[in-house]
Amino acid sequence: MRINPSHTVGKIAVSSSGAAAVFERYHLDYCVHGGETLRAACLQARLPLEEITDELEKVDERPMSWYMKKRNWDLESMADLIDYIVHIHHDYSRCETRLIDRMLEEAVEELGDKNPTLATVQEYFLKMAEEQIDHMRLEEEKAFPYLIQAERALRRKDPVPHPFRDYDLFQHPLRVLEWDYGLLGREWNDINRLTHYFELSSSQKEYLGHLYDAMKRLEFDTRHHIHLEDILLKKAVGSGLLDEVKLGVIRKGGVG
Ligand SMILES: [Fe+2]
Ligand SMILES: [Fe+2]
Repeated sequence: MRINPSHTVGKIAVSSSGAAAVFERYHLDYCVHGGETLRAACLQARLPLEEITDELEKVDERPMSWYMKKRNWDLESMADLIDYIVHIHHDYSRCETRLIDRMLEEAVEELGDKNPTLATVQEYFLKMAEEQIDHMRLEEEKAFPYLIQAERALRRKDPVPHPFRDYDLFQHPLRVLEWDYGLLGREWNDINRLTHYFELSSSQKEYLGHLYDAMKRLEFDTRHHIHLEDILLKKAVGSGLLDEVKLGVIRKGGVG
């Protein structure tokens, strides 16, 4: 895909499935500063425009329509499901988290004196956001690549790789697939309680409406994200890939 440096980073991020990963690698913020052109963003962050343009031109060009179509995940591969989770939910989650982080900071600074609850909401949000970012990184670095590789081996009837053989049960990289998301855990429940499930009086709406809407969107998206990873886990268990770590032992509801 030809990249035009006069296009905004936000537009480039959605025009190809691999662009967001390139921006992430260079710590180029395509969410909060998504309205800036690639040229301006690189200049401002002192990043090599040509090098980044080259990389962007090489990434996978799967069109966004692939992500928009209705899917029956029971019939699709783990590799396709993982691709969808990473490029739709992980990217979105990172973007939205940064946006909310910034909005919370502004809200606490401007309204914190009158509304001390905001600082507590910020504290809980930052804690769970950190957990979630860490969780997604572990999935992308270890668990997902393993599942893709193992699925490919199964299809070819090759021996399934066991790269994590030396890990004990509690350190095992695939256990990340079982973790509860911080964003649906205790902190998120506390935020719901503190914000009265994001209810705002009409006078508060003007100041906090966008922030609360963004948090509601993220919570909704995270539920769908977790649902898809449940499907992924079931597929992995169904393919016999998770036997070696006996994940079912520690998973509520049991998966094998
Ligand atoms: Fe995930
Ligand atoms: Fe996850």
